[in-house]
Amino acid sequence: MKNDLTRREFLQRSAGAAGALAASPAIFLEPEHIPLPLQSMAPSDRVRFGIIGIGMQGSGLLRDAIQLPGVECVAACDLYDGRHTLAQEIVGSKIPATRRYKDLLDNKEIDCLIAAVPDHWHRQVVVDAVSAGKDIYCEKPMSHSAADGVAMVAAAKKTGRVVQIGSQRVSSVLCAKAKELLSSGILGTLTLVEGSLGRNDPTGAWEYPPPPDLSLSNFDWDTWQGEVPKRPWDPDTSPKYFARWRCWKEYGTGVAGDLLVHLVSGMNYMLGWNEPPKRAMALGDILRFKDGRNMPDVHATLFDYGQGRAPVYLRLNLGCDTPEIYRFQGSKGILEVTEYTITYFPQSGEDESPSYYTSGYPHALREAYLKKWHEEHDPKPGKEPVTEGFSYRGASWDEEKPHLWRFFQGVKNHQQVTEDAVFGHHAALACHMANESYFRKAAVTWDAATNTIKS
Ligand SMILES: NC(=O)c1ccc[n+]([C@@H]2O[C@H](COP(=O)([O-])OP(=O)(O)OC[C@H]3O[C@@H](n4cnc5c(N)ncnc54)[C@H](O)[C@@H]3O)[C@@H](O)[C@H]2O)c1
Repeated sequence: MKNDLTRREFLQRSAGAAGALAASPAIFLEPEHIPLPLQSMAPSDRVRFGIIGIGMQGSGLLRDAIQLPGVECVAACDLYDGRHTLAQEIVGSKIPATRRYKDLLDNKEIDCLIAAVPDHWHRQVVVDAVSAGKDIYCEKPMSHSAADGVAMVAAAKKTGRVVQIGSQRVSSVLCAKAKELLSSGILGTLTLVEGSLGRNDPTGAWEYPPPPDLSLSNFDWDTWQGEVPKRPWDPDTSPKYFARWRCWKEYGTGVAGDLLVHLVSGMNYMLGWNEPPKRAMALGDILRFKDGRNMPDVHATLFDYGQGRAPVYLRLNLGCDTPEIYRFQGSKGILEVTEYTITYFPQSGEDESPSYYTSGYPHALREAYLKKWHEEHDPKPGKEPVTEGFSYRGASWDEEKPHLWRFFQGVKNHQQVTEDAVFGHHAALACHMANESYFRKAAVTWDAATNTIKS
């Protein structure tokens, strides 16, 4: 069913609504139209990309990207040779594969890059790519540290290349609809934003099984470690770092960079915010997965986005399964946003019955108050207000094709992307602040003058 309610109609329908959500059918959202892959597209109309990092995420991005019309993968790069094989299996041909990403930067056949390498490699790859004149789609969180993000924004601005950061939900039809509803003022005064996500299984907590054949003969362990003080190869522990890098701050950014960044990016997009928090206060611990990791497995953060802005409370937990959800709370109700749905629970914000404070009045005063209140507020019989809530359903906000499509359109037409380096930096900063607050056991602030996190 097509949703053809205009915003005005939407507001008219919900005006004056009072009480709880009335049963109302879900309205289905239609995603942006992406044409089907064309068999014969003129070579001049094609976008040729190379991919760096074909692991868990890169392999999915590659599968999605090559299904888009006029988009072609012409080279792959990974430090583990098994992933050269994987890239060729996905593409269905023997595309050139290398361990050196600089080979892709030098390749004139390549218009742009997709990078899905661990967080500690993002800055180097992005800065090198844009400096070599390549546009790049880089996975979230944009940066491994605040300083890395500052350098990446500077490089993107200096070169003018297209940089899209991979928080795919900001290209979802669902978040676009929520953004439209929020900007229409549906919630009245926004008073609180809450969001949460919980998992409760080893895989959800990143205890991934390393590829069993990983060894120095098919993997460049030295380069993989980047600028982190080098550990010698140990067949027992090194494959764990390779597969479970999210658990250690040297390589990853914990639940903040892995999961919180999605909540923050989506929130910023839906609210039309594009700035770092002024202040963050986090609590966390390693409560369930005491496997040698140094990042918390439970992490709850309060963010202050400035005077007059609603407080934001975002909670991540790898020790209890809970749905991923936002609740935007305001004087006119709650907008609940999940992976597939948006639900509006209206509230009038008005007294719907006489004030219970008057139970403390003497009888005569109370009776007079009640009489007057009922005269002024009781609806005429048959004219009682009807409350109407709304529910929208759409494709998962985790679909990557729309986000990739916008990137390739940006590359082709030199147009603005949804999640550029500045937006990606601001979302990542919230995560770095959450981590810094956890480690310092203190509230932290973002100091824009020095581009540093202070406590
Ligand atoms: N958008 C999402 O929903 C989503 C989901 C999962 C992961 N991610 C992000 O994607 C990125 C990759 O995560 P993953 O789970 O796929 O990791 P992964 O460990 O499965 O894969 C990363 C690959 O990058 C390769 N690599 C590392 N350094 C390299 C270098 N310098 N040159 C070439 N190859 C290099 C590794 O060998 C590995 O094969 C991370 O930033 C992660 O946060 C995003």
